[in-house]
Amino acid sequence: MFGYLAAAALCLVAVLVLRSDPWSLCEVPGLSSLFPEQCRGQAGRLLSKGELSSYDGGHGSPGLYLAVLGQVFDVQKGMKHYGPGGSYSFFTARDASRAYVTGDFAEGGLVDDVSELSPSQMLHLNNWLSFYQKNYVAVGKLIGHFYDEYGNPTKALEDALAAIDVGLKLKEKRHEENKQFPPCNSEFSSGISRVWCSKNR
Ligand code: HEM
Repeated sequence: MFGYLAAAALCLVAVLVLRSDPWSLCEVPGLSSLFPEQCRGQAGRLLSKGELSSYDGGHGSPGLYLAVLGQVFDVQKGMKHYGPGGSYSFFTARDASRAYVTGDFAEGGLVDDVSELSPSQMLHLNNWLSFYQKNYVAVGKLIGHFYDEYGNPTKALEDALAAIDVGLKLKEKRHEENKQFPPCNSEFSSGISRVWCSKNR
């Protein structure tokens, strides 16, 4: 009896959720691949590497896009930096996540493989992602390294997020240690010694 009631309650919740947001099931891991057509639009637009490569802002190009950790942004309003001839034009039309941290802007460095980056470097990259989320319009996801063809996160993205999490924890730990043991200085001059520590860091 109790089992039937529980099942009925579960159905009621499912109906209510689906009525308010019929696509919410697409967020349940695994289900999006069972309903590819229904869920395709849910990650925003999904772009292939080939499609993204045409968004370099040049003549005949459909726009100016770049990707960080597989998230695609429209950087048209930053044309002076990213457009053809701009100082950062090499970031456009691709996902060059690694270069945001390494500063290696040669063709071989402009890649999406971030597996060798340290947790603090990943945190730095995450700051760039937040920068784009705050300042530019998100377009969708890039199919390939960080998202699969349905817009689901790949193992590479899960690893990247885990590294960012470790980076955040390390940062918090350093912050706590600095509060507990503030950096101190000492000076000895004219027979007088002086020690002082910074209070806030
Ligand atoms: C890893 C190294 C670096 C990376 C990844 C990087 C990346 C960027 C990016 C993506 C922008 C455009 C931001 C936007 O959309 O508004 C930018 C702007 C800028 N960067 Fe860098 N940069 C680096 C190093 C440097 C260095 C070393 C300098 C100076 C010596 C510098 C000076 C500038 C300046 C002046 C701007 C333009 C600011 C503005 O006009 O709004 N950058 N940088």
